Amino acid sequence: MTSFPDPTWLVGCGNMAGAMVAGWHKAGVDLSSVTAIRPSATPVEGVRTVAMLPDGPPPAFVMLGFKPQKLDEVAPSLAPRITDSTLVVSLLAGVEAATLRQRFPTARAIVRAMPNLPVAQRRGVTALYSADGDKALAEVEALMTLLGVAPRVATEDHFSAIGAVAGSGPAYVARFVAALAAGGEGIGLDADLARLIATETLLGTAAMIAADPIDMTELARRVASPNGTTEAGLAVLDAPDGLAPLLARMLAAAIARGHILAAAARRG
Ligand SMILES: NC(=O)c1ccc[n+]([C@@H]2O[C@H](COP(=O)([O-])OP(=O)(O)OC[C@H]3O[C@@H](n4cnc5c(N)ncnc54)[C@H](OP(=O)(O)O)[C@@H]3O)[C@@H](O)[C@H]2O)c1
Repeated sequence: MTSFPDPTWLVGCGNMAGAMVAGWHKAGVDLSSVTAIRPSATPVEGVRTVAMLPDGPPPAFVMLGFKPQKLDEVAPSLAPRITDSTLVVSLLAGVEAATLRQRFPTARAIVRAMPNLPVAQRRGVTALYSADGDKALAEVEALMTLLGVAPRVATEDHFSAIGAVAGSGPAYVARFVAALAAGGEGIGLDADLARLIATETLLGTAAMIAADPIDMTELARRVASPNGTTEAGLAVLDAPDGLAPLLARMLAAAIARGHILAAAARRG
C-alpha cells in the first residue's frame, strides 16, 4: 500500500482535491498521515479535516487545492510553515511554477499538477510539471498514477494546454451530452428519456473505447454507413464552421483566461 509523507497537508480540499482523496481511498492508499485544511472544516471523507493550519511539525508534503484567486490570502500564513524538506504540489490553474517559487521560497521542490475530476474514479488525467528536477516529479507521479494517467510535460505552456483539454474537459463533455439530450428533446423525445439515452450513449461509447482503444475516425466509420443518417449528421459537425473550429475557439478562450489568471498571480 502506498502512503503519504508524514505529515501531509491538503490546503483547500473542495471538489478537486476531494475527488483526488476519493480516488486514493479507492486505491487503498493509507491516508492516516493526511490532514485536509479548509475554512469551513466540512469533513472530507477518509481524512482528518480542520479549519486552520495545524500546530506541530512542518509538513513533508503540501498540496494546494484552493482557488488561484486565494493565493494572496493563503501564502502569507503557509509560507513560514514550509521548510527545505517540504514538497509542494499545486493544483492552481494558471499559476506558474516561478510564481509559486516566489511565494514558497524555502520549499524543497514545487510540482504543478493539473488533474481532472475523473480522478475520483481512478480514470483521471493529471499533467505534471516541475522546474525542480526528476526526483520530486517521480514522488508525485507515484501518487498521481494511482488516479489514472499522469503525463509529464516538458514545458509549462504544454501544461496549460493539457489543463484546457483535460482539466476543463469533463465540463465540455457535460455540455456536449446536455446539448445532445436537448437536441433529442427538440426532435420529439420526452426530456427524461432524452437525458437517459444521451448519458448512456456517452458511457457506452467510453466503455467501448476503454475495451478497444481504436482511432476515433475508425469508430465513427463503424457507426456511419455510406450516405446513411449518421453520415448526414457528421457532415454538419465536419463542416468548415462545425465542431473543430468551435472547440478551437473554446480552448483558446480557456488559454486566454489562464494567461489573465497567471498575470494576476504574478502581480499578487
Ligand atoms: N474543479 C476542477 O475540475 C479542477 C481541475 C483542475 C484544477 N483545478 C484547480 O483546483 C483548485 C481547487 O478547485 P475546486 O474546483 O476544488 O474549488 P472548490 O471546490 O471551491 O474548493 C476550494 C477549496 O479551497 C478552500 N479554501 C478557501 N479559502 C481557503 C483558505 N483561505 N485557506 C485554505 N483553504 C481555503 C475551500 O474551503 P471550504 O470548502 O471550507 O470553503 C475549498 O475546500 C483550483 O486552484 C483549480 O484551479 C480544479
